[in-house]
Parts: sequence; structure tokens; C-alpha cells
Amino acid sequence: MMGRIDGDIVILGIAGKMGVTLGMMALRAVRESGVERRVIGVARFSNPEHETTLREFGLETIRCDLLDPTAVASLPDADNIIYMVGRKFGTQGDEAMTWAINTVVPSHVARRYATSRIVMFSTGCVYPFVPSTSDGPDENVGMDGVGDYAQAAVARERVFQYYSESGGTPILMYRLNYAIDLRYGVLHDIAQLICNDQPVDLTMPCFNCIWQRDANDRALRCLERCASPPAVLNVTGPESHDLRETALALADKLGKTVSFTGTPSETTWLSNASKSIALFGPPETSIEDMIEMTATWITLGGSSLGKPTHFEVADGKY
Ligand SMILES: NC(=O)c1ccc[n+]([C@@H]2O[C@H](COP(=O)([O-])OP(=O)(O)OC[C@H]3O[C@@H](n4cnc5c(N)ncnc54)[C@H](OP(=O)(O)O)[C@@H]3O)[C@@H](O)[C@H]2O)c1
Repeated sequence: MMGRIDGDIVILGIAGKMGVTLGMMALRAVRESGVERRVIGVARFSNPEHETTLREFGLETIRCDLLDPTAVASLPDADNIIYMVGRKFGTQGDEAMTWAINTVVPSHVARRYATSRIVMFSTGCVYPFVPSTSDGPDENVGMDGVGDYAQAAVARERVFQYYSESGGTPILMYRLNYAIDLRYGVLHDIAQLICNDQPVDLTMPCFNCIWQRDANDRALRCLERCASPPAVLNVTGPESHDLRETALALADKLGKTVSFTGTPSETTWLSNASKSIALFGPPETSIEDMIEMTATWITLGGSSLGKPTHFEVADGKY
């Protein structure tokens, strides 16, 4: 794919949980394709270590507060944009900032990059809750997110949709239901609870997840799938996982017992990824591998990003 597409790549919001590894994956793919192409990462770099990591790997970086329209206007041209900016945690009590990040920044970016193709990271939280026993909504289900974050995520899509439809910008709404790696995510959180002898809350009784490497791979390949009006793609693993059974499997690998709390809700946030799996094949990393790797990581005292997912939240308040 990197041999086929034209132009440079700008990754906006590169400094988060997923962006640093996505940027490195993109540059590795560019190098292996043999095509000359700049890969530029943009963020405020609140944690300067992320900028150092990216620069040492060979990416270019630009410090920019994307809420500042003048700063956005001065960003370099690029045919390919991966848009990863978002705000979820900390919304409760500071709702206005979440709405600003998820609506004002998209407006600046969509206007600055009106002639680029944009893979826009969205979330499965734009969908309404569905029965916990269902396969989850596919891309034809209307958006109806629960809570300020989810509603602002709907608005993030709507702003990009507006510019795509009015100006012809090719965009793909990449609706992700949850990426995880060794240092964060629902499996990491459950394993930590088990190791600390804390109960696992079953309020949200099942979940989807996808290994971060697979999620990043799909996001980059979506550059070839952008369209106007925007394309929409659910991205997660092929199945939903029962939280209780997953916790029991993790406890078994950790050699611990697990206790539970909370009453399982009849509805939850799920996503049906059949379309992305038909396009790209199943993700390479299975749930069994993720459980095994997570248990090993936690047993060995591996690091944590210290960013809990709050997988138990049932009212959309983050
Ligand atoms: N991780 C998941 O499982 C998941 C699931 C569903 C959807 N998503 C979506 O996928 C995207 C990427 O996920 P993530 O977990 O990597 O997100 P994240 O950890 O929250 O990272 C967000 C990024 O946005 C940057 N940013 C925030 N405000 C900014 C501003 N004003 N100017 C410039 N940069 C700004 C942050 O870096 P600085 O603070 O350094 O600027 C950071 O790089 C997010 O939009 C999220 O909504 C993720």
C-alpha cells in the first residue's frame, strides 16, 4: 500500500496511546516500500519523551496546539492525514474542553486539509447501547452516543462529514472499539485488578477489543478507502468477549482467584466489524494470544501507561 499511494503522511495527535506506534509502523512500511515519503507527527507533545522516541526512530515532529487555527494553517501540506486527536477521560466536570477538542479541532483540520485524504479516528461509542447478547451494530445503524463524550464523538464525525460532503474531501470514519496493548486496555485493567485482589465489575458484561498493532495496521490501510461522502468502517475483533469468562481465563494464567462485583447490564457498547474483516481479513492477534501475553506481562511486572479504560462505566460519563 505504501508503494501505491501518493504523497507525504501527517499524523495529527500522534502522541497518544496508539499514535507513537502507528507513526513508527507507518515509517517502517514506507522504508520497506522503497518509496520516498515524509512521515510527520503532530501533537503538543505534553510528554516530551514521545517526541524523542519518534525523532530517534526517524519521524519528523511538529509541536502544535491544534485548537489554534493559525498554528494549524502553518502545518505542512500532505496528501495523507491520519487524524487521531480526541478527548474522552476527564470529560466529566470539563465537558466544554471535550466538545472543543472533538469539534473545533476537526473544523480547523478539515479546512486546512480539504484536498487531502483523511482517516479519521472515531469510536464505536457513537452507536447506541445494544443488547449484550447481540452481534453489535454494523455501519448502517444510526449514531446515538450516550453521554457527553459519545455525543461529542458523533459531532466530531458530523464536522468531518460536513466538509467531505460540501468540499469533496475523501474521508474514512474509523470507528474503533477498543485497541489494547500490554500497557493499557481492558485485559491489562482486569489483570491488574486480579493481581491486587480487587473485584472485577461485571456491569458491562461483554466487550470487543483488537490488538493495537492490528488496529494501527488497519488504520494505515484505510488511506486507500477514503471517500466523499465519507466511508465508514467499524474496526475491532471478530467476536465479543464475555467479561466474566475473560477474567476467569486471566486469573487462571496468573495463578490467582478472581472475585466479581456489579450486576450485568442487559445492554452494552458493542460493534460489528464484519465489513472491516471482509476487507482486511481477521486481525492477526487472537484473544487467546492477548490473554496469554497480558498475563505474562503483568506477572513479569511490565509497565503500565496508568490510563485505566473504565470499562465498567455504563452511563457514558468519563
Ligand atoms: N485507544 C482506543 O482504544 C480507542 C478506542 C476508540 C477510539 N479511539 C480514538 O482513537 C484516537 C487515538 O486513540 P489514543 O488512545 O491514542 O488517544 P489518546 O491517547 O487520547 O491520544 C490523543 C492525542 O491527541 C493529542 N492532542 C489532544 N489535544 C490536542 C491538541 N489540542 N493539539 C494537538 N494534539 C492534541 C494528544 O497529545 P498531546 O497531549 O501531546 O497533544 C494525543 O497525542 C482518539 O481520537 C480516540 O478518540 C481510541
